[in-house]
Amino acid sequence: DRPRPLVAGNWKMNGTRGSRGVVEAVRDGVDPALAARIDVLVCPPATLIGAFAEAVAGSAVRIGGQDVHPAASGAHTGCVSAEMLADCGASHVIVGHSERRADQHETDAEIRDKALAARRAGLIAIICVGETRAEREAGHTLSVVSSQLAGSLPDGAAAADTVIAYEPVWAIGTGLTPTPADVAEVHALIRRELVAKLGEEGRGVRILYGGSVKPGNAAELMAVENVDGALVGGASLKAEDFLGIAAAYR
Ligand code: G3H
Repeated sequence: DRPRPLVAGNWKMNGTRGSRGVVEAVRDGVDPALAARIDVLVCPPATLIGAFAEAVAGSAVRIGGQDVHPAASGAHTGCVSAEMLADCGASHVIVGHSERRADQHETDAEIRDKALAARRAGLIAIICVGETRAEREAGHTLSVVSSQLAGSLPDGAAAADTVIAYEPVWAIGTGLTPTPADVAEVHALIRRELVAKLGEEGRGVRILYGGSVKPGNAAELMAVENVDGALVGGASLKAEDFLGIAAAYR
């Protein structure tokens, strides 16, 4: 039995209150037949989580954050806690996106602590891993992904509270994607390591592929073994494109 797929959109630092129509169109496009097959998630900037959660209330679409502070509260100016995200109506949060690993110098240990904070607040953590172009060219893809996963996956993670997203950094926003065989190799490695660490529970943890997923390549990428959905950046900003990707599961 394959895990239930998840198609997640990461809006990154895009969107204002005027973008509400996009999430409403996603909501209206996820009909009962599609909702019966997959989970659909939109992760807007923190400023929009509350409004978007209201917009999708009562529908199958879920709303998530893009980052979280590891602490529950306190003197951390500018940061948002998992409890705050949950309070706004979020059900998920992305942690360890490569843009944050690069721009905010996030370490595996910090990412693990963020995933733990998410779990404490009842949120599902989407933990991102992936190699850079230089790491791939040097033949280090599997060792980099393995080490990021070992460092950022908390002990006791479960299928109900954890999702892994494999995002090759060189495929993000570039229009480039790995071959299905390359995706299969990395996802198989992640699956093996999940099972090694979590036992049978690791078979139910969803492993998303992210990096230049578009309506035109989604079916091919989503058909790869151990690919349990997508983490979509640019194409999630247009309802038509995002729904076109979700349609890979129709
Ligand atoms: O989190 C999403 C990814 O970074 C993928 O972004 O679909 O624009 O390549 P992209």
